[in-house]
Amino acid sequence: MEENRVKKTRIVLVPVPAQGHVTPMMQLGKALHSKGFSITVVLTQYNRVSSSKDFSDFHFLTIPGSLTETDLKNLGPQNFVLKLNQICEASFKQCVGQVLHEQCNDDIACVVYDEYMYFSHAAVQEFQLPSVVFSTTSATAFVCRSVLSRVNAESLFLDMKDPETQDKVFPGLHPLRYKDLPTSAFGPLKSTLKVYSETVNTRTASAVIINSASCLESSSLAWLQQQLQVPVYPIGPLHIAASAPSNLLEEDRSCLEWLNKQKLGSVIYISLGSLALMETNDMLKMAWGLRNSNQPFLWVIRPGSIPGSEWRESLPEEFSKLVAERGYIVKWAPQMEVLRHPAVGGFWSHCGWNSTLESIGEGVPMICRPFTGDQKVNARYIETVWRIGVQLEGELDKGTLERTVKRMLVDEEGAEMRKRAIDLKEKLEASVRIGGSSCSSLDDFVNSL
Ligand code: UDX
Repeated sequence: MEENRVKKTRIVLVPVPAQGHVTPMMQLGKALHSKGFSITVVLTQYNRVSSSKDFSDFHFLTIPGSLTETDLKNLGPQNFVLKLNQICEASFKQCVGQVLHEQCNDDIACVVYDEYMYFSHAAVQEFQLPSVVFSTTSATAFVCRSVLSRVNAESLFLDMKDPETQDKVFPGLHPLRYKDLPTSAFGPLKSTLKVYSETVNTRTASAVIINSASCLESSSLAWLQQQLQVPVYPIGPLHIAASAPSNLLEEDRSCLEWLNKQKLGSVIYISLGSLALMETNDMLKMAWGLRNSNQPFLWVIRPGSIPGSEWRESLPEEFSKLVAERGYIVKWAPQMEVLRHPAVGGFWSHCGWNSTLESIGEGVPMICRPFTGDQKVNARYIETVWRIGVQLEGELDKGTLERTVKRMLVDEEGAEMRKRAIDLKEKLEASVRIGGSSCSSLDDFVNSL
C-alpha cells in the first residue's frame, strides 16, 4: 500500500567510505526504498559498499578521481576526509549531472549526504536540488559540534590542557565534561573545529536526519530543532527499522557455536569497532583482567588494529595463553547476532554510535573504553544518563578491569544496568513500530519530499 502511495523518484545517497558511516547510510537507503524511492549510491574510489545481492535494486556510481585505499593508509582517517572534501566537489557535480541527464529517467527527490561529505553542497546548489544532511552520530554529538564550532579554539585548547578543567562540566553541555568533548577526531583542535563548522552547516540543506530516537536524546533533539533553521527528523535506530548488511570484513560465524556452549549471560563481548588501534601493552592488561575475572570472553581483534602487526602475531606468547584459558578470538564477528545471543552478558566497547545503538537495541549493558571523537560523548551518556554501563577512564590496570567485569556480570549493580538496558531496548523497539516516534518521523520526512 505504502509503496504505491509515493511517486517513484530517486534519492541520491553520499556515504563516507567507513564502516560506521556506510552501515547506517545503507540502512537508510533500505528504509527509503521500502517507501517507493529508487536509490542511487555515490561512492568514492575507496569503496566500502558491496553492490551485492542485498542491494541489487540500488544503482551505484563512483566519483572519478576520488581517493583510494592507499590514500587512506597514507593520510590517516582525518586527513582523508579533509582531502576528500577538497577534491570531490567538481567530480561529484559531474556524477549528479550524470544521474540527472543520462542514467535515470526519474527526477532526483533529494540528495542525502553524510554530514562529513560536505563537498555535496556545491552540486546541490548548482542543480538546485533539495538536500538533506544525514547524521550518523548521535544528536548529542551534533549539539557538541555545533557548540564547539562557535568557541574560540585557542582558549578551548588551554582549558582542555588544564587537568583541573578537564573534569569540569562544559557550560551548556551537562553532563559532558571538557574531557568528554569530541575533540580529538580531527587532529589539531583548530582543524577539528573547522571540520565541525562544516558538518553542522545546514545552509543549503532542507532537513537533517539523525540516526537516533527521542526516547534516547529528547533534550539534544529539542535543542537541534530549536537552533537549526530546518526540520530535524530522528528516525533511528536504523538497524532495527531497516537492517542492511554492509560489512567490510568477512564475519567469522564460528563464534556463535562457541557462544552456544557458554552459560546464560556469562560472556563479555569485546569489540573496538572498525577504526580504533590498540597498543600491545593495553591488550595484555585487558587479557590479564579478563582472565582474572573468571568470565568467558569473545574478543574481536581486527586485522591491522595492533600497530606494526598484520593481525595478532606481534602479541607475546603470554597473551595467547591467557586467552586460551577462557576466551575466543575472531577477526570480525556478526556483531548483531552476538549481542542478541543469550550467553552474552556485557559488551566491552569503544562506544561508536552504531555499536552503542546495537547494544542498547539488544538490552546489553556496556563497559565503555572510548578512544576518540563522539565515542567519548556516547560513553558519558551510557554511564550517567542511561546508566547502562561503566566507563574505564585513565590508564588501564588489570585489577580495575577484573573488578569492572565482575561488577557487570556478577554483581547486583550489573543486574540493575541490564534491567535499564532492557527497558531502553523496549522503548527503542516501540519507537520504530507503526505509530512510534521514529516511524512517524520517517513518514513525515517522506511526506515532506
Ligand atoms: C566510527 C566512529 O568510531 C564512531 O564513533 C562513529 O559514531 C561512526 O564512525 P566505528 O569505529 O566503526 O565508527 O564504530 P561503530 O559506529 O560502532 O560501527 C562499527 C560497526 O561495525 C557496527 O555496526 C558493528 O556491528 C560492526 N561490527 C564491528 C561488526 O559487524 N563486527 C565486528 O566484529 C565489529
